[in-house]
Amino acid sequence: MSRGWQAVDDYIADKLLGADDALAATLANNAAHGLPPIDVSAAQGKMLFLLAQIAGSKNILEIGTLGGYSTIWLARALPADGRLITLELEPHHATVARTNLERAGVGGLVDIRVGPASDSLAAMTGETPFDLVFIDADKQNNALYVNEAIRLGRPGTTIIVDNVVREGGVLEVDTDDERIFGTRALFDMLSAEPRLDATAVQTVGAKKWDGFVLARVR
Ligand code: SAH
Ligand code: DHB
Ligand code: MG
Repeated sequence: MSRGWQAVDDYIADKLLGADDALAATLANNAAHGLPPIDVSAAQGKMLFLLAQIAGSKNILEIGTLGGYSTIWLARALPADGRLITLELEPHHATVARTNLERAGVGGLVDIRVGPASDSLAAMTGETPFDLVFIDADKQNNALYVNEAIRLGRPGTTIIVDNVVREGGVLEVDTDDERIFGTRALFDMLSAEPRLDATAVQTVGAKKWDGFVLARVR
């Protein structure tokens, strides 16, 4: 079925997303600079854009920039006086992302902070509360990132966590894959977290079988 999933994603992109030179250039530039093709899909990117708009987001936090593909979608949802902080471990990824964001015309809205996200988050105090947080970095730290998103949010903050299904890998109890272990720790944390309302939605498409957590701070 995965050929069918890709074909349907192509159909959705053709009908609902249209040609997008800045995003196409971003993916090409990422590939040219050796970045792995693990960006969100076009349909998922538009979903992030819509969720950010529905939430009326003026302040967005992203954890895991890569080449800025999802960053561009999110930044496009911001008003002119909005801002987006995105956290990235790899200096090379951040450099490629900066080029892509400038080309897309959203560079002025985006602050890329380089280093382990746990350190960048710990250094954040007294920030304007974030309206939306998109978590898409090292899966081992997902529970920590959600805790930080709550700390840096407010009642009503939207939290999205990418890649929480992993072709069903989330069900592997005795895994030695620390990303799966991290995802299961995330679900354990969410199931015992009174400060959130949360769900997870499975997805298929260009990024195979995966899913995302959608949560709202109470
Ligand atoms: N959100 C991007 C994809 C991110 S891929 C998009 O959809 O376009 C995951 C990114 O997280 C990679 O660039 C990786 O370098 C980064 N990452 C991994 N571990 C990290 C850490 N500890 N802190 C910050 N970023 C990290
Ligand atoms: C991986 C990371 C992602 O954020 C993603 O969307 C797909 C794959 C990975 O680390 O393999
Ligand atoms: Mg992802």
